[in-house]
Amino acid sequence: MSRPTFYVTTPIYYVNDVPHLGHAYSTIAADVLARYQRLCGADVFFLTGTDEHGQKVAKAATASGETPQQLADRVVTRFQSLWQKLQISNTDFIRTTEPRHITAVQQYFQRLLDSGDIYLGEYEDWYCTPCETYWTELQLVSGACPDCGRPTEKLKEASFFFRLSAYQERLLRHYQENPRFIQPESRRNEIISFVRGGLRDLSVSRTSFSWGVPVVPAPPHVVYVWLDALLNYLSVLGFLSPDEAAYRAYWSERPQDGRVIHLIGKDILRFHAVYWPAFLMAGGEALPTQVFAHGWWTHEGRKMSKSLGNVVDPNLLVERYGPDPLRFFLLREVSFGLDGDFSEAALVQRLNADLANDLGNLVSRVLTMVERYRGGVIPPCTAPTAEEEQVRGAAAAAVRGFTEAMETLAFHRALARVWEFLAHLNRYVDAAAPWKLAKEQAPRLDGVLATCLEALRLVAFLISPFMPGKARELARQLGMEEGLEAPAGGDWRRWGGLRPGSRIARGEQLFPRLEETPATAAGAASSTAGPAKEAGRQEAAQAGPPAAGSAATISIDEFQRLDLRVGRIRAAEPIRSSKKLLKLQVDLGDEVRQVVAGIAEHYTPQELLGKQIILVANLRPAKLMGVESNGMVLAAEGGSRLVLVGLDGEIPPGSKVR
Ligand code: MSP
Repeated sequence: MSRPTFYVTTPIYYVNDVPHLGHAYSTIAADVLARYQRLCGADVFFLTGTDEHGQKVAKAATASGETPQQLADRVVTRFQSLWQKLQISNTDFIRTTEPRHITAVQQYFQRLLDSGDIYLGEYEDWYCTPCETYWTELQLVSGACPDCGRPTEKLKEASFFFRLSAYQERLLRHYQENPRFIQPESRRNEIISFVRGGLRDLSVSRTSFSWGVPVVPAPPHVVYVWLDALLNYLSVLGFLSPDEAAYRAYWSERPQDGRVIHLIGKDILRFHAVYWPAFLMAGGEALPTQVFAHGWWTHEGRKMSKSLGNVVDPNLLVERYGPDPLRFFLLREVSFGLDGDFSEAALVQRLNADLANDLGNLVSRVLTMVERYRGGVIPPCTAPTAEEEQVRGAAAAAVRGFTEAMETLAFHRALARVWEFLAHLNRYVDAAAPWKLAKEQAPRLDGVLATCLEALRLVAFLISPFMPGKARELARQLGMEEGLEAPAGGDWRRWGGLRPGSRIARGEQLFPRLEETPATAAGAASSTAGPAKEAGRQEAAQAGPPAAGSAATISIDEFQRLDLRVGRIRAAEPIRSSKKLLKLQVDLGDEVRQVVAGIAEHYTPQELLGKQIILVANLRPAKLMGVESNGMVLAAEGGSRLVLVGLDGEIPPGSKVR
């Protein structure tokens, strides 16, 4: 059976500026998607490139004393070298000044001329002579040029037009019949109302400058930069060239389940969701499957701009933190589709909490124990206990949740599912206490270690689209000889892929802890976080129970991420089939929360009624024995006793604990 095709693109970047964090974001997201689809067995074509024509580029070249081509040749290398540093796995890289692209644009322009979809008319708008730019009435600022502030004048020029107005109904029908064509949903609604508002024909040639693809039958017209740029998605596939094999495979004759996804920023959605499909409809071409518009990054609350001097340079971040942690942060920190705010302090905090603590520390603990107790050899899986069955259940749930999220490009959610699983694993290790099992020479130790190793094997696969380098290193340390590229035995998702008897290869800490940057760090160019040589941290990574004082310290900011609230228990009942759990209804003042607490062996439901407790109110909801729990009740544990944490006086439910 043939594999489904998957064609994913980034926007092609203007070469009038060097790459910044926003560009890196689009490209990293596309790379994650491409890698994930390869992992699922799809036949992937992943494209990125540069948009080299147009007035912006021509002007930047004049300013730097170069020809536009010289400028493009110089700046394109900045993009290409950044993509290498960020481990971008693109199949091809298109430059719009390449002959393969120019000939495709010229031929398509001619096709639309022949069909009558492009016609010669007159363009009339407000012209700024010093900037050589037309502006619409709406763009003017008090009648003046929005760029330089000088007066504009109404000018007319001959121009070719694309008959966009003729496509309004077809576009609306397409959106209607393909509800996922534009994502996210809010953006889809925006576009639908824009198109419903009526479409004017679009000027698709210019004569006021010459840096563009010449309109062959009508010099000195050059093709409007967006018609030129959008066609990159086809020209790279050999469209209208002697070899159209890739164009047929990934676009025009793609299999039923073959997909084409354009990832773009929200600012260029109209071009991709209105103009592009209309250009394609006019030429009788197939449409992409989906256009997904992601949000924008600000920097410490402000728009990134050259004039503010706060543009974040991804090169510096890669040097400081490495490509994988940066990729992880950008996709974990904000919901894909929404805007996000970048700060180096938030980056360091998340890397320490999620990567150094939750993942790195776990890997280190498990591998140290396998070395210490089993001479570095992967032990056999013994018959699973109830706890091991739970780990397997959690693994299956994590894989399911991850897959569902990845299919809708909810990268943040996919990662959250992996980290929920890691939290489960960390709790499992703490409860199973392998160091005690080792002391008692308990046969169960093999099963515990094998379960941890197998769980980490799955984690290596799940994080590999996001952190390909670190995932590869994790796989190596776990002794996975076949690595992650070609999952042996078919399905990597199935439990039981590690081979007992093979050797692990414990190495460097995967994610060294970083020094916290001050919350006011001026940005990517000025603060200095780096791996800290922290004795406590080293200790925490050793096998064994955490000794007093050895737990990694946290910052006040990390502590403040906890939302601790006073609650009053209004109802309590046992959970059938569980000896340990009680279902509580906790009054938080303005809401009543259902919480599952593991206190049934220490309290009867009756004695809990009316008690004041402290609740971790912002814990991610979870299901315990099939019952939803929205928070965690604090309790102290001493020997076999467990006592709820109370308060030294009455205070209204919902009060914050700090
Ligand atoms: N050349 C056009 C795209 C043509 S695609 C056929 C273009 N280039 S661009 O270089 O200006 O922008 C490229 C992408 O970077 C856009 O998707 C844009 O949304 C994204 N970003 C630019 N600044 C950004 C942020 N601050 N945050 C996130 N993405 C941002 O537009």
